[in-house]
Amino acid sequence: MTTKTVSAQEIARQQNYIEQVENCQALYRNETGFARKYFIHTYGCQLNENDGERMAGLLDQMGYVLANDYREADLIILNTCSVRENADKRLFGNLGMIKNLRRDKPDLIVALCGCMMKQEEHVERVKRSFSFVDIIFGPQDIYRLPEMLYHRLSDQRRVYDVGDEDVLFEGLPIHRARRFRALCSIMFGCNNFCTYCIVPYTRGRERSRQAQTILQEIQDLAASGYKEIMLLGQNVNSYGKDLAGTDNNPSDFAGLLAAAAKIEGLRRIRFMTSHPKDISTQLLQTIATNPVIEPHLHLPLQSGSDRILSLMNRHYTREQYINIASQARQMIPGLTISTDLIVGFPGESEADFSDTLAVMEAVRFDSAFTFQYSKRSGTPAASMPDQVPPDVVRERFSRLIDLQNSHSLASNQSVIGQTAEILIEGASETSDQIFSGRTASNRLVNFTIDPSENLPEQFRRPDGLLDGNALEGCMALVQLVKAKTFSIEGKMEKLLL
Ligand code: SAH
Ligand code: SF4
Ligand code: F3S
Repeated sequence: MTTKTVSAQEIARQQNYIEQVENCQALYRNETGFARKYFIHTYGCQLNENDGERMAGLLDQMGYVLANDYREADLIILNTCSVRENADKRLFGNLGMIKNLRRDKPDLIVALCGCMMKQEEHVERVKRSFSFVDIIFGPQDIYRLPEMLYHRLSDQRRVYDVGDEDVLFEGLPIHRARRFRALCSIMFGCNNFCTYCIVPYTRGRERSRQAQTILQEIQDLAASGYKEIMLLGQNVNSYGKDLAGTDNNPSDFAGLLAAAAKIEGLRRIRFMTSHPKDISTQLLQTIATNPVIEPHLHLPLQSGSDRILSLMNRHYTREQYINIASQARQMIPGLTISTDLIVGFPGESEADFSDTLAVMEAVRFDSAFTFQYSKRSGTPAASMPDQVPPDVVRERFSRLIDLQNSHSLASNQSVIGQTAEILIEGASETSDQIFSGRTASNRLVNFTIDPSENLPEQFRRPDGLLDGNALEGCMALVQLVKAKTFSIEGKMEKLLL
């Protein structure tokens, strides 16, 4: 399928719907004195989160305001993910709750979008069991939200309209969820067809945004005070392959990253995900020579067995992976490597699983996302023989986690005593007077600030305590004091404004 670039005229046509919906909202505000509120819940990856931010941008323009809680919303959008079965289950659980809410609030509009909506079986189930859902669309249709909402508001029709084209669009507004880190999707879709994975079916083929447009977005973000940018794609290392021959484009991801690193005002550039099969020495060199690019690679291994890697269609061997990891660690001082691991892929034997543990010992990942294999219908792995029994998967999974936890802890222990620059993300989960943030190498740090510290007034609440919201987005020097498995405890030495 070829990519359809959504034309400027089409975006302008949507602008017209934005104005019409805004007119409806203005009437409602005049009549009731209230603005209608929206709530978006995003499941899944940061690409989906970035889509959610674009929809929020559109809704702001249409006169909606953001609700703090789904119960007070007039429009609820569930932006779904289909990567593993538990994501599907969570959606249907939440839809059950919303069904009750809708009973008491008949004017509530409920919309579903995201990856699950690209799968017929889920759409059918929604139609059958949750027929109150008003609007259904796919991840490639978000630019048409104004039109769909207009139809729902003006003639009360249900709008179920999941497009099947691979589209690329620019020029949508955005309401960013965070102040400390801006997400920037540089490409959409995936061409890799790992045999367990649903993403290529829900997100379509790879398509890259023009480099000039991406760099302009980053420049605007830097100018508006963002310190950290996160470049996103399912496989950033193949960025630009579909742009070859077009004007003014750095031809690959290393080139894009190098150009982004020159933009003034940025403190950090992160990116994910890197597919090991496509990683280049030039990319590692670019990271090594540009201090603004964080010394962190998210490099999913998935399995350490060559036999399983081949069944997964991953196109690298364990030896190649180990070599890339060691080359990267040699070239980039202080580098952390995180990974994704799947336990219980069909046909995985005890020997295959031991190979995974052995690669983990060889590479010593600084952190890992660990998953039990989840059968996704329509993928090749779903019909492979020798699906591993759940109790075997669980038992292997717990051994894998024990090993990774010991490596994560050792990795955090190795930096204790150092002083690190932290980008503050706000108050921590446990206390509003303990703050949290990340080192450049993506380690999570929870730290205290001496109450007598002489900080400018703007960082104190009226009661004199420190204000996590005001500190969000600031940099600080923090002494790393105590290692835990998933975080480090620290003490602030100095706030860097
Ligand atoms: N594009 C990224 C990751 C996309 S999904 C990459 O190539 O790495 C994030 C992670 O979910 C994957 O890396 C994989 O570890 C996991 N995952 C995907 N499909 C899965 C499945 N069917 N069962 C279990 N884990 C899965
Ligand atoms: Fe899925 Fe593989 Fe594509 Fe990642 S690279 S999104 S795991 S198919
Ligand atoms: Fe999930 Fe779709 Fe992202 S399946 S992980 S939301 S690309």
